[in-house]
Amino acid sequence: TLDGTGAPVRPATAAAPPGGAVRAPAPLGLIAELTYRCPLQCAYCANPVELSRYRAELDTGQWLRVLEQARGLGVLQLHLTGGEPLLRRDLTQLIAHAAELGLYTNLITSGVPLAPGRAEELAAAGLDHVQLSLQDAEPRSADAIAGIAAHDRKLAAARQFTSAGLPLTVNAVLHRGNLARLGALADQAVELGADRVELAHVQYYGWAWRNRAHLAPDEEQVRQAERDVAAARERHGERVEIGYVPADLHGGTVKPCMNGWGREQLAVAPNGDVLPCLAAAQLPGLTVPNAVTDGLAASWHDSPAFNRFRGTDWMPEPCRSCALRELDHGGCRCQAYQFTGDPAVTDPACRLSPHRHLVTEPVPAETPTPVPRRYR
Ligand code: SF4
Ligand code: FES
Repeated sequence: TLDGTGAPVRPATAAAPPGGAVRAPAPLGLIAELTYRCPLQCAYCANPVELSRYRAELDTGQWLRVLEQARGLGVLQLHLTGGEPLLRRDLTQLIAHAAELGLYTNLITSGVPLAPGRAEELAAAGLDHVQLSLQDAEPRSADAIAGIAAHDRKLAAARQFTSAGLPLTVNAVLHRGNLARLGALADQAVELGADRVELAHVQYYGWAWRNRAHLAPDEEQVRQAERDVAAARERHGERVEIGYVPADLHGGTVKPCMNGWGREQLAVAPNGDVLPCLAAAQLPGLTVPNAVTDGLAASWHDSPAFNRFRGTDWMPEPCRSCALRELDHGGCRCQAYQFTGDPAVTDPACRLSPHRHLVTEPVPAETPTPVPRRYR
């Protein structure tokens, strides 16, 4: 079975059982953060704020073993990301090994360091799909948010990937600075030959939380964005799938983050730390297992970190007695922590959360002296 990107999806029979922390089914996907090195400095980067803690990276042999462990655990999809995964000189070797293991491989990249001929090399090694980010449709604004002149190089990289015959998803992170050009972003992605466009509002943790004053859109911008997505879908019809991740802080409903904690995916950081989501390392009291010292199977099945918010037994009210708890999994633990200081409360994006006011009260952007933008 294939999902929107052509990646294999888990059969319905393998869905997580309802209830509390029972033995989890096999994970569907591994998010391999090969390195946090990156030529860009996006103001909403999903990498940890404390980047200096992650200078050490697993070597090639260790990553090869992580891939083998993942396949042994039942993983079907491999998402190679960073930082910028193209900066790993062993990327072709890792992709070739993943392909031998039968993993579907997706490269998540800015495209900026793509050397001539490398797209063909990666395709020949067995790469299945590329997801390339654009910051904006307008080059100056795109380069301003990236912190370097990147936009034109990204367009060139997108063309190299499609010329190499690789299916392409173009994704863009949406914020107050580029929302007005949402339609133009979708058009540019389609012009580049993307098979899929993914437009997603910023998630506010880490760097984006620090820059929330500069990034958070207002209510009218969010409503206009919804109309612009509908218009873009109309323009491009069946030809290209346009995915949209709405601004959950404005809607009153929560996103089913990671499709549930420890339920479908696991992430491995550059130093081998194994995490239930990319932002989980910041959560207090979480003892993070490591792929090299603990192994992926023990991390997934037995570690306190993965079992901490698995299932529904951990839930407080109002989630505990809510009809939606098996569908949205109580929202996002990292967002709950960011807004309230406690990762175990109902996501304050939910209109039923007792902390909802923390989400709806004015953000610092509306104060007269906004803090300067902080680049990673
Ligand atoms: Fe979801 Fe909890 Fe809100 Fe119910 S109360 S909608 S389970 S976040
Ligand atoms: Fe960590 Fe949502 S980003 S649970």
